[in-house]
Amino acid sequence: MQLTEKEKSRLHKKYGPWALVTGASSGIGKSVAENLASAGFHLALVARRKAELEVQAEYYRNKFGVECFVHKEDLSDINAPARLAKATANLRVGLVVLSAGFGTSGEFHRGDLQTEIEMLRVNVETVMRLCHYFGGQFAYQKRGGIILLSSLVAFQGVPYAAHYAATKAYVQSLGEALAVELKSHGVDVLVAAPGPVASGFGQRAQMQMGNPPDAARIGAPILRKLGRGYLVMPGALSKLLIFSLKTVPRRFGVRIMQIIMGSMTKDKRSQYA
Ligand SMILES: NC(=O)c1ccc[n+]([C@@H]2O[C@H](COP(=O)([O-])OP(=O)(O)OC[C@H]3O[C@@H](n4cnc5c(N)ncnc54)[C@H](OP(=O)(O)O)[C@@H]3O)[C@@H](O)[C@H]2O)c1
Repeated sequence: MQLTEKEKSRLHKKYGPWALVTGASSGIGKSVAENLASAGFHLALVARRKAELEVQAEYYRNKFGVECFVHKEDLSDINAPARLAKATANLRVGLVVLSAGFGTSGEFHRGDLQTEIEMLRVNVETVMRLCHYFGGQFAYQKRGGIILLSSLVAFQGVPYAAHYAATKAYVQSLGEALAVELKSHGVDVLVAAPGPVASGFGQRAQMQMGNPPDAARIGAPILRKLGRGYLVMPGALSKLLIFSLKTVPRRFGVRIMQIIMGSMTKDKRSQYA
C-alpha cells in the first residue's frame, strides 16, 4: 500500500521539507519513514540501533534522493528530548512522527518495575516533552504536523497489558486534546490507533498476535489521514474492535479485552480468577 503522487505532493507542500521520525529503525516508524522519503521529505531518523538507521538512510538517499540525518538516542533517558531538539534545531522540521514505543504483558505486579518505568518514559514522558517542544515550534511557525502512536488498547483497561494500555490511553487523550488546541495555530495532530501489527513489537512485549498485517502496510494509511481528522485506526480489526467496544459498558469492555489479551500473553495464570 503506497501513497499516490497527489497525496505525496499534498503532504510535502503542507508539512515539508523535513520530517522527524522516532522509532524509524523498525515496524510502523520505518514504514512511515519510507513513505515520507518517497514523498520527497528529508528525514531525521531516531532510534537506539544506529546501524539499522544508517542502512535505512543510505537506502532513502539512493532511492529517493532525499537527505537523511541519523540520531542515535535512547528515548527512555530523561535528557533525550532536549538533545534531540538541539540536534535538529537547524533542520526545517515540519512533521514529527512519534512512533518509538514498546509494550509489556502478563500480570502487572509480576513484571519488572524498571522495565515498566522505562516504558513510561519512552511511551509517555518523551512523547509529552517532544509534543511540548515541537507543538510550540509549529504553533509559532503557524504550520506543521504531529503524529502520535496510540493503540486499540487505549480505550479501556486491558488486563495482562495493564500498564502498556495505560501509556497508550495517555497518548490517546493527549493527542485528541492537542488536535483541538493546535488546530487554531495551523498545526495538524493525528493519533493513530492500530490493532495488532507484525513488527518487532510482539517479540519485545512477549505477545503472540496470530497473523496480523505487516507493518509495511501501515505507514501509508496513517499519512493519508494527516490533516483530515484527529484519529486513524489502520487495519480492519482495529476499527471493528474499537467500534464494538464503544457499544458495551466500559466494565464489559475490560472483560472482553481480558479475554483477548489473555489469549495473546504467555502469562495467563489468573486469567479467569
Ligand atoms: N505492533 C503493534 O501491534 C502495535 C499496535 C498498536 C500500537 N503500536 C505502537 O506503535 C509504535 C511502533 O511500534 P512497532 O509496532 O513499530 O514496534 P517495533 O517494530 O518494535 O518498533 C519500535 C521502535 O521504537 C524504537 N524504540 C523502542 N524503545 C526505544 C528507546 N528506548 N529509545 C529509542 N527508540 C526506541 C525501536 O528502535 P530501537 O530498538 O532501534 O531503539 C523501534 O524503532 C509503538 O509506539 C507501539 O506501541 C504497535
